[in-house]
Amino acid sequence: MARKKIALIGAGNIGGTLAHLIGLKDLGDVVMFDVFPGVAAGKALDIMQSGPVDGFDSEMKGTGDYADISGSDVVIVTAGFPRMPGMSRDDLVAKNAGVIATVAEGIKTHCPDAFVIVITNPLDAMVWVMQQKSGLPPEKVVGMAGVLDSSRFRLFLAHEFNVSVEDVTAFVLGGHGDTMVPLTRYSTVAGVPVPDLIKMGWSTQEKIDAIVTRTANGGGEIVKLLEKGSAFYAPAASAIAMAESYLKDKKRVLPAAAWLSGQYGIDGMYVGVPVVIGAGGVERILEVEFTPAEDAAFKKSCAAVQELIDASKKLVG
Ligand code: LMR
Repeated sequence: MARKKIALIGAGNIGGTLAHLIGLKDLGDVVMFDVFPGVAAGKALDIMQSGPVDGFDSEMKGTGDYADISGSDVVIVTAGFPRMPGMSRDDLVAKNAGVIATVAEGIKTHCPDAFVIVITNPLDAMVWVMQQKSGLPPEKVVGMAGVLDSSRFRLFLAHEFNVSVEDVTAFVLGGHGDTMVPLTRYSTVAGVPVPDLIKMGWSTQEKIDAIVTRTANGGGEIVKLLEKGSAFYAPAASAIAMAESYLKDKKRVLPAAAWLSGQYGIDGMYVGVPVVIGAGGVERILEVEFTPAEDAAFKKSCAAVQELIDASKKLVG
């Protein structure tokens, strides 16, 4: 079977971590594009040189030429600016909308059949810009954040219940911003929903509410600690889970910023919902039932995403 080709747009902290994970998981060969091609080339060579130790054969190359991404099966986009302490993700729209529009042109020209995973913030609006400017089918363009937010939620719940993260499932839906919606009713330990675990005395509503708040502020917590940039290990791991599900047609159910065309009563925008990712890209959208309170929180989050899409439209048309 031919080796897969994965293009990484942006060779910063997330780009380097992505390349390393691709090697370790034997997902394929890597082309890392950056406006600083030397950085991309240096990281690619450095990571490839870990292959003999770790036992992987991925070819890795750095480039500043979009032509080198041609024929990629998957493109993961991290290009743009990260936020700094005191900023919200939304503050990045003015800087990053133009960056994503340029990247979209490169993808449209050189690998229009790729599955594209966007990580750049403000996430849901940047996925929208990517799809609109690349013209790729909406089901082949997704945003990474739901997996990341849900992973944070799973970790905090696992700590609270003193169980393995492997046995905790959790869903965070809505936009990847301050209004995201961690859903406790759809979060479980080995299939037992969190509200039932509270009834069993495993935790209290107050503690779970604090975990929900911590999850919603999870990115900001890391930004504050790092002081110069934002999270990269967990975002990279999350994007790789999506890429792997696509490349291996695993059909995993993952929360992703996906194109809604009527589902959840929303039409024509990207926002975080549970989806099935397989060889067709986003193959299905799961429409879970909301309580009135959950529905109100989801709609509020969608309204916040819409504002950022409107701002992006003004910036890049
Ligand atoms: C995250 O959630 O870690 C990312 O969206 C980066 C950020 O600015 O919070």
